[in-house]
Amino acid sequence: MRGKLLYEGKAKQVFQSAENEQELVLSYKNDATAFNGKKKASFEGKGRYNNLISTHIFEYLQEQGISSHFIKPLSETEQLVKKTTIVPLEVVVRNVAAGSITRRLGIPEKTVFQPVLTELYYKDDSLDDPIINDAHALLLTDVNEEELAFIKQAALEVNQHLQTFFDRVGLQLVDFKLEFGRDQDGSILLSDEISPDTCRLWDKENGGKMDKDVFREDLGSLIDVYDAILNRLEAAK
Ligand code: C5P
Repeated sequence: MRGKLLYEGKAKQVFQSAENEQELVLSYKNDATAFNGKKKASFEGKGRYNNLISTHIFEYLQEQGISSHFIKPLSETEQLVKKTTIVPLEVVVRNVAAGSITRRLGIPEKTVFQPVLTELYYKDDSLDDPIINDAHALLLTDVNEEELAFIKQAALEVNQHLQTFFDRVGLQLVDFKLEFGRDQDGSILLSDEISPDTCRLWDKENGGKMDKDVFREDLGSLIDVYDAILNRLEAAK
């Protein structure tokens, strides 16, 4: 059960668990934001889709031996997770060029990255989440070199597993963002959400965008696309 509201972000509320001091309740909201909050809307049912899709993903990763903060779903819109202090880094893995890298570096969309790219961004809304290098990450956060190496390696392992996971349901994993937290014991743990809000997914049949780009680029109904992803995942279970 939910205890006190600890934090409210753009897409989720974070509550203390009423039963366990070391656990949190994540409640997924219907709000969608893009371009660091400059574009906003709300979609009935979006919180439910992201909670259910994120649950499928974290359960799959756990089956593959990737530990994370995820404990279990609590309701259609809520998950129980282990309490962590989020490291203010966004770790982006790119298999194929799309989004900011096409604008920033002029790389054509759909360029395949071999080897895949890992990027770090400093999670700070007031600075618009700037891209940073390893030395900046060590300067700006409390992670040490070994922990940063672990984070980047874990992101690549998650990429391998998620590529297989989405491939099974006819989706190409273009890129995604991960966040990590530090638990009570000081260990770094995969945290936050993994959903079509935080991944780019292209339909393998027709190349159609099936993620938050539908909202970012006004391509149609976000809810229809999220519904299609959930249906494919449930059919594949
Ligand atoms: O915007 P950009 O192309 O850098 O995004 C790369 C990936 O990271 C996309 O899948 C996007 O959805 C995700 N992302 C995110 N949260 C952010 C920035 C990017 O989930 N704040």
